[in-house]
Amino acid sequence: MKIGVICPMEVEMEKLASVFGAKEYKKGIFKASLTGGSELYIALSGIGKVNAAASTQRLIDLTESEVIINSGVAGGLNPNLSIGEIVVSADSVYHDFNPLSLLDEYSPFGKIFKADKELISIAEKACEENGIKYTVGTIATGDRFVADDDDKSRITTDFGADCVEMEGAAVAHVCVLNSVRFIIIRSISDFADDTAETHNEHEKPAADNAAAITEFIIKSLV
Ligand code: ADE
Repeated sequence: MKIGVICPMEVEMEKLASVFGAKEYKKGIFKASLTGGSELYIALSGIGKVNAAASTQRLIDLTESEVIINSGVAGGLNPNLSIGEIVVSADSVYHDFNPLSLLDEYSPFGKIFKADKELISIAEKACEENGIKYTVGTIATGDRFVADDDDKSRITTDFGADCVEMEGAAVAHVCVLNSVRFIIIRSISDFADDTAETHNEHEKPAADNAAAITEFIIKSLV
């Protein structure tokens, strides 16, 4: 099996690349051999929707990955979430596509991207076995770092989202267009409010939590 992982930032990729001994094989794509002849490809996509979409399509075209995992950090919206906890995508949605209903009205149709059910179950097991609290829920994606109380409450209310980040729905969208199974794994590094900062001390431990769950999923699939 060929498995692709999209990591927007280096901090989100480091642990996975080192655990699997991945080596750069094309610009921005790192490859490792897995048991039984399977292959792992990790793409360092860069941040934002366009980078994520371009990287996902490139990964699918170059590697024929059958499963794509998007692993990284997020701002927490659901008040029950604490720093380091995991959100497993049941679905993902753009919070900055306006009006969102247009995506349902024009071909190829679809504004909510539902993750693969088997991958969700494996991710739940991964969180339970790693002792990390998790929620299976909605991930909102947009091209801005959310660090504002009003923006946060609008996204929470309008989309019923549990966390916010900048790539997941774009990865999911490209996977849907290519009929590739996918899941988004995000760990909370801030609360997307007035106190949130782009670089904070929680980023690395949160990224490593998401990587631990992603590692478990990869090992479960081969
Ligand atoms: N990734 C991590 N925290 C975020 C936030 N507050 N907004 C957007 N993306 C994020």
